[in-house]
Amino acid sequence: MSLLPESISRIWRAAPPELRWLRPQDAAACARLHAASFLHGWQAGDFEAYARDEGCCALGAFAGAKMLVGASIARRSGAEAEILTIMVDPAWRGQNIARQLMERTLAELAAQGVSKVFLEVEHDNLAACALYRRLAFADIARRQAYYARADGTRAEAIVMRRDLAN
Ligand SMILES: CC(C)(COP(=O)(O)OP(=O)(O)OC[C@H]1O[C@@H](n2cnc3c(N)ncnc32)[C@H](O)[C@@H]1OP(=O)(O)O)[C@@H](O)C(=O)NCCC(=O)NCCS
Repeated sequence: MSLLPESISRIWRAAPPELRWLRPQDAAACARLHAASFLHGWQAGDFEAYARDEGCCALGAFAGAKMLVGASIARRSGAEAEILTIMVDPAWRGQNIARQLMERTLAELAAQGVSKVFLEVEHDNLAACALYRRLAFADIARRQAYYARADGTRAEAIVMRRDLAN
């Protein structure tokens, strides 16, 4: 279900969302978006910390220049980086917003000297796996019983890597 009233969504869908780096004041909107996308939602304080952290690339997609409809967070450590999360408002999925967020983030990481980017994804999250493979991430490992699920079972994680040219 979308976080936006349908009438507003319809108007804003006419214009593509704009990307900009997240600010601490976007934290509450990030937390709402995260709660709509994941079982274990992160707190606004987590996003505020990421937005302030110079070692993070925290990017948002904004409809009508104001309403957050997608976001991604990556964290650098030397020449490596990890994608910590990516999420798109359910009503805005399938419009290449995640791909744009990732491409901009990867370009920024490359510009900052990062040469290897890692991530973990639940093995049956088909949309996310397809997104990452579309962006040339390659499977490099599997972690058994990694993610806790609502029904008490645990799901396997796929670890992926993408090399960047500097
Ligand atoms: C995964 C997610 C971020 C994708 O966002 P999105 O904006 O809909 O994705 P895009 O429209 O940018 O799609 C980019 C590519 O990903 C793939 N993809 C995205 N959604 C897909 C789906 N439902 N089925 C198959 N492929 C999909 C496609 O290859 C697509 O490229 P193409 O359209 O050129 O073929 C979104 O589904 C989401 O927020 N899911 C919940 C949170 C989540 O699981 N995050 C990832 C955690 S690891």
